[in-house]
Amino acid sequence: MTSLKNDLLLRTLRKETVERPPVWMMRQAGRYLPDYLKLKAKYDFFTRVQTPELACAITLQPVDQVGVDAAIIFSDILVIPQAMGLEVLMEEGKGPSLPSTIATQKDIDALITDGAEESLKYVYDALSLTKRELNNRVPLIGFAGAPWTILCYMVEGKGSKTWEKAKQFAYTQPLLAHRLLQKITDITISYLKLQAKAGADTVQVFDSWAGALSPADFASFAQPYLLQIADGLKDIVPVILFPKGSWYALKDLSESSAAGVGIDWCISPDYARKLTGGNIVLQGNFDPAKLLAPIPEIKKAVKEMIDAFGPQLYIANLGHGITPNIPVDHARAFVDAVKEYRPVTI
Ligand code: CP3
Repeated sequence: MTSLKNDLLLRTLRKETVERPPVWMMRQAGRYLPDYLKLKAKYDFFTRVQTPELACAITLQPVDQVGVDAAIIFSDILVIPQAMGLEVLMEEGKGPSLPSTIATQKDIDALITDGAEESLKYVYDALSLTKRELNNRVPLIGFAGAPWTILCYMVEGKGSKTWEKAKQFAYTQPLLAHRLLQKITDITISYLKLQAKAGADTVQVFDSWAGALSPADFASFAQPYLLQIADGLKDIVPVILFPKGSWYALKDLSESSAAGVGIDWCISPDYARKLTGGNIVLQGNFDPAKLLAPIPEIKKAVKEMIDAFGPQLYIANLGHGITPNIPVDHARAFVDAVKEYRPVTI
């Protein structure tokens, strides 16, 4: 196997000393790049996801055009509910919706579990193709949604600000919720293993709605499944957990078999370091909306962010996905500021 030309991300995840922190942006593939919008005008969402040549082209765009230190495969977390037999619609301007939601034991029993991950061959094909096309320039990140976040969509049937239906389900029928979470977990572990086999150098688990839960409910409905995934993959690829909003879990997660934990901008780098010691690589946590600030301010804030985290055991990233309204030169300024970073010398 040829070695990567830029392996900053993987060396950081192995806790090695690096010249500067690696940088990538959550949701960097798609959303804001003009070349992505051209493909979006031509092909519907799941055609883009299910056609390896399109997914590969979209994955490479931010590497070529913004200069990030890693590629993340273009796909979606909702391919898992699809593989389990649920229909998922993606309507422009409305976000995802699932016409048949999960409410009862019967619904859960009817989900496809045996070999569900095998129907996602197009993801593995997209990864292998992208790995080839990257030609070892930067590492390739695979991903999946965390069980709690996937449950949210399966039960709620669409996005939500409060996730009341999903929480009602978890709090009134906890045994069913755990049964569903376990099914999703088992499939996700197999799915991520197959992603690694197809070429993913590391994988991130997006628990986008973890922060809807209290610390005690996170400990019950989210954390055990995140830990199972981290344990299941630990000898195969480094795992980055991103439980958005759940800063209270940082200490526990830093003692898990995950290689890194992503954090959002609601916790300061200092406090996150205090909670985790030097135990784990931290990733984050620039407020994506701050990318709308003038470029000199972005650059200044990035430098302050790296100073606060420290340049080792650190992956520069946003605290959540980049939004469609970010000018490309502002995204590039974020990436450049990390690449230009030099530690303060006295
Ligand atoms: O990081 C990357 O760029 C890789 C691609 C990626 C997509 N979705 C493509 C996409 C990744 C990593 C995701 C993850 C994802 N999908 C999450 C977790 C990350 C997060 O932002 O919290 C969630 C919650 C979803 C579910 C989902 N998919 C939603 C809520 C939406 C609609 C709103 C939106 O844009 O986020 C999608 C659609 C989607 N997935 C788009 C893209 C580029 C936009 C639709 C389009 O371009 O046609």
